[in-house]
Amino acid sequence: MIFKPFPQDFLWGVSTSAYQIEGAWNEDGKGESIWDRFCHSPYRIANGDTGDIACDHYHRMPEDVALMKNLGVKGYRFSIAWTRIFPEGKGRVNLKGLDFYDRLVDELGKAGIRANVTLNHWDLPQSLQDLGGWANRDITDWFAEYARVVFDRLGDRVAMWATHNEPFVVASGYFSGSMAPGLADASLGYRVVHHLNLAHGKAVQVFRQGGYPGKIGIVLDLENYIPETQSEADLLATRRILDQSHHVFLDPIFKGHYPAGLIEWLGALAPQPQAGDMQIISTPIDFLGVNYYFTSKIRYETWGGLLKAGSRMVSAPMWSQTEMGWGVYPEGLTAILLKLRDQYGNPEVYITENGVAVPDEPDENGFVQDRERIAYLRKHLIAAHDAIQQGVNLRGYFLWSLMDNFEWAHGYRPRFGIVRVDYSTQKRIPKLSAHWYSEVIHRNEVWE
Ligand code: FCB
Repeated sequence: MIFKPFPQDFLWGVSTSAYQIEGAWNEDGKGESIWDRFCHSPYRIANGDTGDIACDHYHRMPEDVALMKNLGVKGYRFSIAWTRIFPEGKGRVNLKGLDFYDRLVDELGKAGIRANVTLNHWDLPQSLQDLGGWANRDITDWFAEYARVVFDRLGDRVAMWATHNEPFVVASGYFSGSMAPGLADASLGYRVVHHLNLAHGKAVQVFRQGGYPGKIGIVLDLENYIPETQSEADLLATRRILDQSHHVFLDPIFKGHYPAGLIEWLGALAPQPQAGDMQIISTPIDFLGVNYYFTSKIRYETWGGLLKAGSRMVSAPMWSQTEMGWGVYPEGLTAILLKLRDQYGNPEVYITENGVAVPDEPDENGFVQDRERIAYLRKHLIAAHDAIQQGVNLRGYFLWSLMDNFEWAHGYRPRFGIVRVDYSTQKRIPKLSAHWYSEVIHRNEVWE
């Protein structure tokens, strides 16, 4: 056996998000979010599923924290539902919503688990969407105000904050139609990108001004994109995809400008920063969160949409596709982390999401022997370890996900949890992978 020990203070955690687990969609004064609206509209979500009840975490929170404590988890990444705090998105504060997260943070504190809180994991208040949502520049101030109220209440006990989760997916809700709010208007996409960046920068500034004790950063989906061939057309198409999905956030935040090639390609559709915006956006952050799931090969394609690019998932030898239809390519994670080391000044990095949906087969007691998930996780942890060996400033790993949950437009079919949720009883049953992960954490190493 080969053992791969991790650094002493490596932060082992699990991830979830509000809409995917909480349920209680209209309780205790919570307002309607764009995901409530989207799921309540016909034909948007597989099987007509909704997050109305989800894992009922809102009512089972202490039990879920106890579950994490039993697994030995050291960090918990979750998100706040903006609509629990501001039911209309701005203006009136709903104290019951703040109280819920206050209890959660206290419960985590008692369990010795560090809180890693995301402010925007996609569930924008519908009232703000009615005003244009992320396409309306005023949202940058509404978001900063929401952030301030949450920092004021929880900031004394939260170790890590992230402004957005996967902002590019938020923007895709405006130009591809498959995610809420379900619009398909290319002219909105990059305006939304800019407002997400600006809102991020404003929230970071509010955080700095408040002098709160924790760290603040952002979580990006940094999937790995490689050219199909070395032809100039494929190389340029890959560049455009990377600019759109990585650099359109990384460059403004770390370098203070948008990627020039993409701006030129987009022409009139490109983001239009106003004077001072880029300084706000590039306010220094404390860490970068990386979500990594797959690697795709990119080629030039005449019918490849705005960017004239086509993509296809690839898998490393011996791997088939996951339940999501995604490939499995662990080395892609090392490549992404090395890129951050080489091109973005080796920032402090946490893997904030990584995990897999496989066809779980429970036995009569609901126990799942998910050896394929363990193999996936093991290989990705080894890939992360390789990156640390090569000098990447990687400080922690948050597995997606603590438990099976609502997988957006795919509904409940894909199961990402290391804990099984029996949705008919809401019983939580740790899978084999949960026991394995628990041992990884305890030993602070991975082995094969
Ligand atoms: C990511 C999302 C997360 C989860 C995983 C599978 O894109 O951030 O909420 O759905 O994918």
